[in-house]
Amino acid sequence: LDPELDLFAEIERLKKEKNAIILAHYYQEPDIQDVADYIGDSLGLAQKAEKTDADIIVFAGVHFMAETAKILNPTKKVVIPDLKAGCSLSDSCPPPLFEQFKQKHPDHLVISYINCSAGIKALSDIICTSSNAQKIVESLPREQKIIFAPDKNLGAYINKVTGRNMVLWNGACMVHEIFSVEKITKLKLRHPNAKVIAHPECEEPVLKLADFIGSTTQLLKYTEKDNSQEYIVATETGILHQMIKSNPHKTFIPAPPDNSCACNDCPHMKRNTLEKIYLCMEYEMPEITMDEELRLAAKKPIDRMLELSA
Ligand code: 13P
Ligand code: SF4
Repeated sequence: LDPELDLFAEIERLKKEKNAIILAHYYQEPDIQDVADYIGDSLGLAQKAEKTDADIIVFAGVHFMAETAKILNPTKKVVIPDLKAGCSLSDSCPPPLFEQFKQKHPDHLVISYINCSAGIKALSDIICTSSNAQKIVESLPREQKIIFAPDKNLGAYINKVTGRNMVLWNGACMVHEIFSVEKITKLKLRHPNAKVIAHPECEEPVLKLADFIGSTTQLLKYTEKDNSQEYIVATETGILHQMIKSNPHKTFIPAPPDNSCACNDCPHMKRNTLEKIYLCMEYEMPEITMDEELRLAAKKPIDRMLELSA
């Protein structure tokens, strides 16, 4: 690409010419967030994808998110800047193994976190996100036996807040498992007034240190309403862009990882670049396509979630 090409202007032109909408997750790099028509957490993105009247949905996120948009919008073209933008959590739950796991718990209902493949969604009864997981679990009778997949950390957290005993699939997100309790504790000593805010994909010892736990949107809203001046943020660093924009006078410190060579960036989310956004809009590829039978089976539990979250 010509380095002098004004990607911001080109992307705006393509949006109009092609009636395209850019949906971006908070973990995308700042430039991508700045060209997006909508930035949100997984629930917000699914709700927006369901309602849009654009012809092309440009999904600036990871594969399972774009796939969810396609499941909800079969007649629309859904493009993703990089088809290799996967998710370690989604990869930790392959459908054939999950099917065997399900067979071992025949009288259980399956609630799956949206961070999973269409194959897992098709094996699930209800989908949830981090912003509605508690509500969805609590919508079921207490005596209902439940399998929760694929995130064991979110599952354990929901078990704790609801007093349920869901059977958990042993999956996790590579980004949310790197935080160091020791380093956060030390940081808190140096910043005694800072609030610790954490995503529920973090491990329990990190969540125990948190003053507030929530989805990316819920964390952002918390920093907007709360009157503290400093926050230690235990989630992917992309969210800091909107936190700083909304609260320019507050300080946001990324929670430190246990290995100082590591970082809190999601390598999958960060595969997307502004250049790739432009290219996928110009050439309308890579495109998300799906077998219709699989799509219909995966749509059912998403529809249940959207009804329960309306
Ligand atoms: P939410 O934005 O729904 O909180 O999800 C976080 C996440 O890890 C997405 O991959
Ligand atoms: Fe998956 Fe974790 Fe990256 Fe989210 S942050 S896309 S859960 S690997």
